[in-house]
Amino acid sequence: MLSQFYCLFLLLPIYFFVDMTWAEEGDCRRLNRADIEGRLSTKTPYRAIANYDETPPKYAGCHPTRIWSIIRHGTRNPSESVILQAQNRLSEIKKRILDQPKPPICNAELKKLRQWHWMHLNATEDEKLLVAEGEDELIELAERMQRRFPNLLPELYNPEWYYFKYTATQRTLKSAESFATGLFGRHRIHTVRYPPPLHEDPVLRFYKGCGKWKTDVDKNPETLVNARRFLAEPQMQSAVQHVRSSTRLPDLQPEDVQLMYTVCAFETAWHRPRRNSGSMPDSSYESVWCNFFDVAALEALEFFEDLEYYWNDGYGYELTHRIACPAIADMFAAISSSEEKRPRRANATLYFTHSGTLLKLLAHLGLARDRKPLTHKHFASERLWRTSQIDAFATNLAFLRYDCDKEKPQVLVLHQERVVRLPGCPQDKDLCPLATLRRLYAKSVDHCDREEMCRVKAN
Ligand SMILES: *[C@@H]1O[C@H](CO)[C@@H](O)[C@H](O)[C@H]1NC(C)=O
Ligand SMILES: *[C@@H]1O[C@H](CO)[C@@H](O)[C@H](O)[C@H]1NC(C)=O
Repeated sequence: MLSQFYCLFLLLPIYFFVDMTWAEEGDCRRLNRADIEGRLSTKTPYRAIANYDETPPKYAGCHPTRIWSIIRHGTRNPSESVILQAQNRLSEIKKRILDQPKPPICNAELKKLRQWHWMHLNATEDEKLLVAEGEDELIELAERMQRRFPNLLPELYNPEWYYFKYTATQRTLKSAESFATGLFGRHRIHTVRYPPPLHEDPVLRFYKGCGKWKTDVDKNPETLVNARRFLAEPQMQSAVQHVRSSTRLPDLQPEDVQLMYTVCAFETAWHRPRRNSGSMPDSSYESVWCNFFDVAALEALEFFEDLEYYWNDGYGYELTHRIACPAIADMFAAISSSEEKRPRRANATLYFTHSGTLLKLLAHLGLARDRKPLTHKHFASERLWRTSQIDAFATNLAFLRYDCDKEKPQVLVLHQERVVRLPGCPQDKDLCPLATLRRLYAKSVDHCDREEMCRVKAN
């Protein structure tokens, strides 16, 4: 009798302990890394979509002799406005979650939330700076490209061979240097020459000085109508509802939920998954803010961004993709010119630029194009326009010229390191004749009158 009682007495606290741990684990609601990483729109880290297959593409009788590639900068810090909102509004939301008598999250997350702050970022000095992960993205991309095209991207830098250019920003400069590091090694990048960077580069950032695009698209309130209407759609409403209930803050507004999504995105992009010494996944770098979402909510926030970019930088307005013609013309000049023509173009042209450039170029080329315009009603439909896939950090496009024994010169196009077949090119093979491609873009190249396209008519 005594021993039985003793036994129960001993077991009870153990039982209690185990039970509580289970309850806490249950409340953690951890999404998988993979569920989060690939749904962060333009804040998606490149590792979520990179092509790790480095096998050189082989086309019998043909070999690559030129490359022209345009690359978005890697993972960066947020803008000044996002940093300030995180430091102010999000800190307030944090406090309101922690002030609850029983905050709706498990102990590990509670601890993380208590420690969370963004005071290490100075909104004016640190905004949009490339971070360490962004450097690694560009270094690794360069290494893979070099392994695929070793003759075209030699390990020894030579200014006759390589032409590097970036825009007048820290993040594209650092991206160019990181890419160079991947190609030539850390100790040799100081020899790389760059032309003076421009803020409104006519090729790398063709939209910057385009007045008509500014007034008709970028600053036109109509542009965001579809995104705004999606806020009232049931999928977005449920996303907001989900976050209200997971935080137990019933008055959270869609802007609050978007801020949480943005902070979740940056914090996820900054840190790749690590394993701790016991080789268990180390969750200490996982963003506490992602935890208030489920997959459906992330997808709704992602779709909101897809709408925004579709109408501001993509297919939404014809002018937006028409103004990408200077970049297309430059691509043809770089890959078509012959050895004799002066000035001679380098064998490898590498440009480091921004999301706004890449998206407009994709739309100019007819890539990721859906049959119907994307509207607030299309959340549930299949779509090709997915910014998480097509416009992650370090997004890249490459045109490679192949010279062949028997055929005329050909072009291979890569997006995110994968072969794409452009509309109008043969759909049953990877290579497109240079002459065919040039014909397809005759209008872009021969009638690329920026003055005319961008003129704001006085009325
Ligand atoms: C570099 O480009 C020229 C064309 O201007 C070509 O003749 C040459 O073969 C290229 N070099 C290599 C190694 O591809
Ligand atoms: C951020 O940097 C600016 C410019 O150097 C400085 O004036 C300001 O005091 C800094 N802000 C904070 C909060 O440290």
